[in-house]
Amino acid sequence: MSIEHARQHFPALCRPRLPDSHKGSFGTVGVIGGAPGMTGAALLAGRAALMQGAGKVKIGFVDDVPFAVDLAHPELMLERAEQLLRSGQMTVCVAGVGMGLDEKSLGLLYQVFRATFDMPLVLDADGLTLLAQGKIGAGARNRVLVLTPHPLEAARLLDCDVAEVQQGRARAAVAISRKYDAWTVLKGHKTVICSPQGDTHVNNTGNPGLASGGTGDVLAGMLGACLAQGIEAAQAISGAVWLHGAAADLLVKEGTGPIGLTASDVLLAGRRVRNAI
Ligand code: APR
Ligand code: MG
Repeated sequence: MSIEHARQHFPALCRPRLPDSHKGSFGTVGVIGGAPGMTGAALLAGRAALMQGAGKVKIGFVDDVPFAVDLAHPELMLERAEQLLRSGQMTVCVAGVGMGLDEKSLGLLYQVFRATFDMPLVLDADGLTLLAQGKIGAGARNRVLVLTPHPLEAARLLDCDVAEVQQGRARAAVAISRKYDAWTVLKGHKTVICSPQGDTHVNNTGNPGLASGGTGDVLAGMLGACLAQGIEAAQAISGAVWLHGAAADLLVKEGTGPIGLTASDVLLAGRRVRNAI
């Protein structure tokens, strides 16, 4: 981790909080996902958003709210997805984490696009697989849309083989950005970030300790929180990807990983890195 790199490239992420700031200054992140059996994905994204300084974090579950409170993080507000979408209270939406792939989830994704046309939207995991089916359009073109595929999800978005994505990762990221008029974060070793205009760069943090279930959900939450804090898209997106990798690098340096590194470790370490830069 190079603090100098962060200060040079993501100065807005490193800005100290103003003394008179309040929770409204740091936005409300809404996470849509967590279908039965996959509630952990939504919790990880929500907790990661909290640790990156979002003013408030609400989770809208696909189905019934599975528990009254997240006992580890009672700060999270839990409700049904439809209710959260109707409330008009989100600054940024993170959708798709553990969302499921059935007709109900597809209908909900359609509602997500309709309800969030005027705010940044981070689409991950099942949300990407549903988008790739081509049954719903990516909607409004003048807001920040961030797609965060791993290579298999990228292949689905482009209707090609994973090998083709991996042989030309920058080319694949550009193709996704063009096709969906979106920012693309093509994940994996050497994550590629591409703007809607097709400008790419490669992130230099992260390690194979991140190869465990749930770390992608954590990245989605971190992206949502950085965007909710009013940080300009290019810095918020590249900065969140950098922070996620830097958190894993710090943990490996300290001996927590690469073996046994968990997504929960990463979201907590992400807070330490953010406060250090
Ligand atoms: N080096 C650096 N970074 C890595 C490495 C590596 N070798 N391996 C993984 N990572 C990072 C990726 O860049 C990404 O940020 O870890 C994260 C893994 O994200 P995902 O592949 O989305 O994995 P996961 O969190 O398990 O996803 C959970 O998404 O794709 C769906 O079916 C999946 O529902 C599941 C959900
Ligand atoms: Mg994932």
